Amino acid sequence: MRTVFDPTDPGTNAYDLLTSIVVPRPIAWITSTGADGVGNLAPHSFFNVVCQKPAMISFTSVGRKDTLRNVLATEYFVVNLVPEELAESANASSAPFEPGVDEAAHVGMRLEPSEVVPVPRVADSPTSIECRLHSSLKLGNSHLVIGEVKAITVRSDALEDGRPTMDALRPASRLGRDEWGRAPEVFRMERPRRA
Ligand SMILES: Cc1cc2nc3c(=O)[nH]c(=O)nc-3n(C[C@H](O)[C@H](O)[C@H](O)COP(=O)(O)O)c2cc1C
Repeated sequence: MRTVFDPTDPGTNAYDLLTSIVVPRPIAWITSTGADGVGNLAPHSFFNVVCQKPAMISFTSVGRKDTLRNVLATEYFVVNLVPEELAESANASSAPFEPGVDEAAHVGMRLEPSEVVPVPRVADSPTSIECRLHSSLKLGNSHLVIGEVKAITVRSDALEDGRPTMDALRPASRLGRDEWGRAPEVFRMERPRRA
């Protein structure tokens, strides 16, 4: 037997259901800069890779937030990975600060210049993805933002055969409710070949 939820039913909280089902979600800890030069840092777990070539990623802003406003105004943003040990700082940076407040300074995260975009990265994040706005799409009360990847930086000691390892990144993830995930247990499987 299953309980059936109709998303159009006023008694259904589809958002709570979906964010508990679509798990674990990777976390984009996004640095951006406003047109006024004020920096911003905020986590977004509605985040994924959306195009192979050219490389593109997306995040979704639920409502109009400072990150969205900054990216639409300046066209640049950086996605920083949240390793487990920075999860508390990432959570702290999600507090509803006033637009003039730079969350990075507030939560004690060190920033450093990025390689090719005019937005700094989180110095203690092991990997960052530098993006230029490709497009955005308004969806109901949310905005899907697509960024073209301009540079990817990885701490050299996190690389093995040219790719980062799970052991080195140990990414935190977002689950439902107020739950977070630690780095997942890894198992390997070969992709099936054409029969
Ligand atoms: C782990 C985590 C993931 C989040 N994911 C999102 C998200 O995908 N989209 C969103 O709009 N808000 C998300 N939030 C909430 C924002 O981080 C929060 O609203 C923040 O204040 C936005 O900051 P800003 O106004 O500086 O952009 C998330 C919060 C946490 C802690």
